[in-house]
Amino acid sequence: MSETFNIGLGNNDSEIRKQSESDFIAFWADQAKKLAWFSPWDKTLEWNPPFAKWFEGGLINASYNALDIHQKNKANKPAIIWEAESGESRILTYKDLWIEVQKFANGLKSLGVTKGDRVTIYLPMVPELPISMLACSRIGATHTVVFSGFSSASLRERIEDSKSKIVITSDGGYRRGKIVKLKEIVDEAIQNFDFVKNIIVLERTKEPIQLTSRDILWSDLIKNAPSECEAEKLDGLHPLYILYTSGTTGKPKGVLHGTGGYLTHLYSTFEWAFDIKDSDVFFCTADIGWVTGHSYVVYGPLLHGATEIIYEGAPDYPEASRMWDIIQKHKVSIFYTTPTALRMFMKFGNDIPNSFDLSALRLLGSVGEPINPEVWKWYYEIIGKEKCPVIDTWWQTETGGIMISALPGIETIPLKPGSGTRPIPGVNISIVDEEGKEVPPNTKGYLIIKNPWPGMLLTLWGDDEKYKKAYWSKFQNVYYSGDYAKIDEDGYFWLLGRADDVLKVAGHRIGTAELESCMVSHKDIAESAVCGIPDDLKGEVIIAFAVLKENVKKEYAVLEKEISDKIRNDIGPIATPKQIYFVSKLPKTRSGKIMRRLLKAIANNDSIGDVSTLEDVAAVAEIQNTVQELQKSIKEKNN
Ligand code: WTA
Repeated sequence: MSETFNIGLGNNDSEIRKQSESDFIAFWADQAKKLAWFSPWDKTLEWNPPFAKWFEGGLINASYNALDIHQKNKANKPAIIWEAESGESRILTYKDLWIEVQKFANGLKSLGVTKGDRVTIYLPMVPELPISMLACSRIGATHTVVFSGFSSASLRERIEDSKSKIVITSDGGYRRGKIVKLKEIVDEAIQNFDFVKNIIVLERTKEPIQLTSRDILWSDLIKNAPSECEAEKLDGLHPLYILYTSGTTGKPKGVLHGTGGYLTHLYSTFEWAFDIKDSDVFFCTADIGWVTGHSYVVYGPLLHGATEIIYEGAPDYPEASRMWDIIQKHKVSIFYTTPTALRMFMKFGNDIPNSFDLSALRLLGSVGEPINPEVWKWYYEIIGKEKCPVIDTWWQTETGGIMISALPGIETIPLKPGSGTRPIPGVNISIVDEEGKEVPPNTKGYLIIKNPWPGMLLTLWGDDEKYKKAYWSKFQNVYYSGDYAKIDEDGYFWLLGRADDVLKVAGHRIGTAELESCMVSHKDIAESAVCGIPDDLKGEVIIAFAVLKENVKKEYAVLEKEISDKIRNDIGPIATPKQIYFVSKLPKTRSGKIMRRLLKAIANNDSIGDVSTLEDVAAVAEIQNTVQELQKSIKEKNN
């Protein structure tokens, strides 16, 4: 029996669950009506598996729903309270944000950007990042935000795949007091890309930069731009954004989200999970470059006219107390962060948060990776002072919004540390075995989603086949999440990590295939394999194995540095392995599949289990030899 905590906010709206159970399509139609539509949709859902059309024919605009609808009653309410790494803050009211967005949208139009064009945004965490996104959605351009910690090679790949006409960046961004020269990274990324017409450069650091004829300063672009720009009336299915995410193949997948369904999902979950009230100050620590930032920094809070904090820098910079300082300073009432950040704060000790006034907090959330029960309890006791519900929200880039979570906004249920509790109303999630049959309680299986839901991805950008294969082929006509989970005897869901070859390092998704293909593109490497092993802080860290080409005589230390540099350069610092082992062979099945399970066990000093149960019996001896060799070389290295 796991421990439970009876804490809620006193809300109990059992009608919502009841309605969702009788007819999920009509239920979501009712939720969608809470948004502002220019005209109603023809049909709520057209389900042509695996393609769902939510609210087709309805006319809507995301930027209009985030800004225009608040001008009557909330024009002077702060929308964004931006806290710079340096401590300076800037407040944008709903009116300020509305004007900035319209000006910038007119600026984009003056460069010829029209409905359907793609715009890549490579900006640090500054207000101009949401402004750019909302300006794109205002005129029907599809934004594709690339996390500003990604390398120029990763950025290039994404600009090329999306065929972006415009790239928006800044001279640089601050990270731990240092400047990252983003404009230089963009210049490198777009070499020989004629389809990129202009680079818009925001002056954040004012460090000298080189401008060419296709570069335009943000300030020049908006200088004479009119401050009124009518929102385009767009179809419910209009592509709002592409967000690239790692999958099990070498190439990142361009997850494509639509407008009406996505906004409906966010509007509902933001209210149900976070119980948002007009007086709240919401703070989600995610970078907007990831989906959490798209959904719960940009669209979710703004749809509700909420006041939120956007913080520019690292969570422990310049002091370990930075987050608590922000919460105290701005009287944050709802705080949403990751287990990795919480584990770090926990390590710094209780005296730090205990010396701040955190009394405005009333609800705490976690996202991105499984939260360990002891971390949950620390969050509940030390940060929430045993008066705030802690919600563990499970979802994915592909689901668009929260799918499993306790929902203090509508219901009070006992919380179990480490469990996401139950699926949200209107979605149908189950846990199945390899054959797709539901597993009994407390049995680990694959998490699948049986019905379409409004926030679901439309497809993968330009690749319907890959979309079918990645999500809808393991089990017939149901969505395969790639996650393991179990349901306990009380119907609570427990998320148990990835079932596929995707790693979660500090909450960031990294595909093993992407990393391996980067490694073998080093001239001395013949083969490689990577896996994740548990880590106290980051949840998981990357361990890499490399087989060198014949006659490579370099020292391992030199090679290790070269490979690490290459990964930092080609993918980004987040994908750097903690350890690289050089081996002469990798354990494989006879069919050639690398056995990561074995590598993981070996690297983690775990028992490798019974290899004789392997399907491919003939490969056992060879694997055992390889394993012994690996163990020997790891031991040598560690000594
Ligand atoms: C993992 C992040 C356990 C999971 C919103 C999922 C979680 C992947 C949780 C998606 C959670 C997310 N508990 N695991 N509360 N939330 N995950 O696309 O493996 O960056 O498949 O979206 O994160 O990662 P993504």
